[in-house]
Amino acid sequence: MRYYFVRHGIAEDMAESDFSRQLTARGRRRVVQSAAVMKRLNLKPARVYSSPRIRARQTAEIISEALGLPVSLVEEVNFGFDLNDINKLTSDMHIDDEVMFVGHNPDMSLLVHQLTGVDVSMKKGGLARVDLLGRNARHGELVWLIAPKVFDALGKSDAQGTAQDAVTLTPPQKLPQTESPLHTLIRHRWSPVGFDRRRGIDRGTLLSILEAARWAASSSNLQPWRFIVAPKENQAEFQKVFSVLREGNQSWAQHAAVLMIAVAHKYREPDVINRHAGHDLGQAIAQMVLQALDHGIYAHQMGGFFPDKARALYRIPDEFEPYTAIALGYRSPDLEYLSDGHRQRESSGRLRQSLSEMIFSGAWEEAADFLR
Ligand SMILES: Cc1cc2nc3c(=O)[nH]c(=O)nc-3n(C[C@H](O)[C@H](O)[C@H](O)COP(=O)(O)O)c2cc1C
Repeated sequence: MRYYFVRHGIAEDMAESDFSRQLTARGRRRVVQSAAVMKRLNLKPARVYSSPRIRARQTAEIISEALGLPVSLVEEVNFGFDLNDINKLTSDMHIDDEVMFVGHNPDMSLLVHQLTGVDVSMKKGGLARVDLLGRNARHGELVWLIAPKVFDALGKSDAQGTAQDAVTLTPPQKLPQTESPLHTLIRHRWSPVGFDRRRGIDRGTLLSILEAARWAASSSNLQPWRFIVAPKENQAEFQKVFSVLREGNQSWAQHAAVLMIAVAHKYREPDVINRHAGHDLGQAIAQMVLQALDHGIYAHQMGGFFPDKARALYRIPDEFEPYTAIALGYRSPDLEYLSDGHRQRESSGRLRQSLSEMIFSGAWEEAADFLR
């Protein structure tokens, strides 16, 4: 889902009551201009919810008129608006819907912070776009934040497309073109190189991600997976895992919040190979990756590391095999510190073979009937 948070425009200081404070003439002018930019940005919320307080209501009405949408005045968006209110107001909406909330501070700034981890101070008349990873998700990305002054500048520029170019903070998700519907976490998963170097993963979240691996299925419930885990706060450990990565991966993985080495136990019994060890490790990682994404955290797996160096550094016994390294972190809104090549990679298209190239029946490489 996508949320737009709008803080009401500049309002008069005094009125009979706080409830009845109106937008000033300047406040109204600015909101009219912002609303025109929102139309140019092609904002299409399925619903606009506003606090019933007059200054919010007037702001919402100006925006709604520009976008050609009705406004719903709801008590939930009044003072004290929180995540539970959002969930209540959006519970019947479609996962791809957009919804706009017009309300007050500190609620607006706080909600953006709670959902994205970014400290923002929403100005009067400001607008934030937060893209969620699912319905009722508690984690999202601040795609952009437009301060009223930026609206002014955008309002004066008439070049087509300028507004969109000027406001993007976090590069858009690389959503695949799927042929059938997918669970939102699977649809949103991809392997970024642009990690937020300022943002760590808190202990509880990391434990939840690791717990997801723990509960994977495995042949005879042997649970052959092991993980060497290095959060960035422990610089010595982080550097140790970092030192086993190949240079090409080091260039971007240095910004990750957590680095891991994924290892599998190769034997069922001392002399009996576990043929499924790699399969089961991969499955545990896949669960971990999706659980991470449910927390707004992305994973990038790497074959590009030196297993022998890892074995030596960590004294990994012979019956265990280091398979991959994994970088975890939040996506960064700022890709300035990436190389041109990596920046390009963040927005390149995503390709997959067709189902008919991988789903057979009858004989090898015979595409299954039901695919046609
Ligand atoms: C086992 C494995 C090894 C990988 N090794 C690397 C690597 O060394 N460096 C890298 O940048 N990406 C690596 N990747 C990421 C893949 O390139 C990526 O998953 C693939 O291109 C599909 O893109 P997506 O994950 O964004 O859908 C690896 C992925 C897997 C599962």
